[in-house]
Amino acid sequence: MDGDQAKIGVLGIIGAGRVGLVLAKLARAAGYDVLIAGSGDPARIAGTVEAVAPGAVAGAASVVARDADAVVLALPLPQHRTLPVEALRGKLVIDAMNYWWEVDGLRSDLGDLRTTTSETVQALLTESRVVKAFNHMGYRDLDEEARPAGTPGRKAIAIAGNDARDVARVTRLVDDLGFDPVVVGPLPAGIMLEPGAEAFGADVDAAELRAMLERFPTSQRGIMVARARAREV
Ligand SMILES: NC(=O)c1ccc[n+]([C@@H]2O[C@H](COP(=O)([O-])OP(=O)(O)OC[C@H]3O[C@@H](n4cnc5c(N)ncnc54)[C@H](OP(=O)(O)O)[C@@H]3O)[C@@H](O)[C@H]2O)c1
Repeated sequence: MDGDQAKIGVLGIIGAGRVGLVLAKLARAAGYDVLIAGSGDPARIAGTVEAVAPGAVAGAASVVARDADAVVLALPLPQHRTLPVEALRGKLVIDAMNYWWEVDGLRSDLGDLRTTTSETVQALLTESRVVKAFNHMGYRDLDEEARPAGTPGRKAIAIAGNDARDVARVTRLVDDLGFDPVVVGPLPAGIMLEPGAEAFGADVDAAELRAMLERFPTSQRGIMVARARAREV
C-alpha cells in the first residue's frame, strides 16, 4: 500500500477529554478532517473543540462512527460497552484506551493478563478491525512532542494490529501526527504497551521504545504475564 492509499480520509474520535482533544488538534494540524464525540450533547463540547482543534466538528458518537473512515477510541475503557457497535461495523478502530485501575476501579474482566484490553474491545466490535495506538504516551507529551518526520530525537508511538493494511494506515496517521511509528506485532502484542509494562508512559524515540519492548519478556510484568498464561494451559 503506498502512502496516499494508506491515508485516512475523515478521522473520527470518540472521547473528547484530555487525549481525544490533543489527537483532534494534532490531526487538524496535519490537515485531516476530524469528527469528535463526547458522552453527551455535541453542543456541550463544540466550543472547546473549536478552541483546541479549530475546524474539528463535534457530533454524537453514532454519527462520528458512521461518517468517519477510521475512529479513535479515547473514552474511559469501562465505557467501551456503550460504543455504537453497528455504526462501527466494517471500520478501522484505533484503540487508545487503557485499563487504569485508579480511575476505572478494580475490574477482573479488564485486568485479566491472559488477554489484552484491545482484544476485549475487538471481542465487542466483532465486525470492526481494531488496532492499538496512541495509548502509551501521556496527553501532555503527545501535545508537546509532535515533530515533523526526520527531526532528530523524534518521539515514537507503538502500534499493534492484525491486518497489514490497517497497520499501514495507522502507521501513516502516527507519522502525520508527528511521531515515529513502531509496529510491535499483532493485537495481542499490545500487552507490552499496557499499564504495568515499561513502555507504558514512554516518551522516547523509536530505538529506545524498541529496546523497552525487547526487554518485556524478562521484565517483572512480562514474567507475570507469562505465568498467568501458563496457568491457562
Ligand atoms: N490522559 C492521558 O494522558 C492518556 C494518554 C493515552 C491514552 N489515554 C487513555 O484514553 C482514555 C481517555 O483518557 P482521558 O484522560 O482523555 O480521559 P478524560 O479526560 O476523562 O476524557 C474522557 C472523554 O470520554 C468521554 N466519554 C465518557 N464516556 C463516553 C461514552 N460512553 N461515549 C463517548 N464518550 C465518552 C468523556 O465525555 P464527557 O466529559 O461528556 O463524560 C470525555 O470527553 C483512557 O482509556 C486513557 O487510559 C489517556
